[in-house]
Amino acid sequence: MQMTSPTFANTSPSFPSVFTLPHTPQLEALYTIIRDKDTSRGDFLFYSDRIIRLLVEEGLNHLPGSSYEGVGFEGKICGVSILRAGEAMEAGLREVCRSVRIGKILIQRDEETAQPKLFYSKLPQDISQRYVLLLDPMLATGGSAMKAVEVIMEAGVPEDRIIFINLISSPEGLKTFCTRFPSLRVVRAQLCDVFAHRLIFADALQITGWIDEGLNEKAYIIPGLGDFGERR
Ligand code: URA
Repeated sequence: MQMTSPTFANTSPSFPSVFTLPHTPQLEALYTIIRDKDTSRGDFLFYSDRIIRLLVEEGLNHLPGSSYEGVGFEGKICGVSILRAGEAMEAGLREVCRSVRIGKILIQRDEETAQPKLFYSKLPQDISQRYVLLLDPMLATGGSAMKAVEVIMEAGVPEDRIIFINLISSPEGLKTFCTRFPSLRVVRAQLCDVFAHRLIFADALQITGWIDEGLNEKAYIIPGLGDFGERR
């Protein structure tokens, strides 16, 4: 079997554990379509599915391989979608991973504490032995994603076996997400302009299609694409 070298996406200098898809003309065209508020629902579904597929393929590049006469995947994987928008990414994962198990987590804002609260979770029973592709299309404040990572880690998955996949991230959400977790590793100073005083990053990986400008006062990503769930 022919050995091929992995095609890793660009890392963001500010966020070394975050891998962003290469911004090719094709990817820019796909994002231009899904960001356009006049794009029809059919086109939004079709083109966002294409981006999801690229993201899932990139996520798989980050799983460890083992060598024999070629390279095979090492370890089992599963998906976990953060309801409800994350469910839109399940089909993209199933297309590339036959019979993949997919768990679900529902997190909503607790109206009393304003904190993200776990309402429901159903995870594969052997999740602690698997790599987890965590699915949620939009990383805004990062609250749900962090709660979901906590739930998955409580089920026995080490932080460095979680790969979070999303279409669009805000810098605010990335910063919060990357500094939240206890199992942190030191990275070189020149790689972390945003975090120069901390020099720490989470082990959990993030694959994002695009890092946008920021959040508005309603915690929507700007320019973003509006409410992902409503557009699907
Ligand atoms: N969820 C969305 O669907 N859009 C945003 O901009 C933020 C969170």
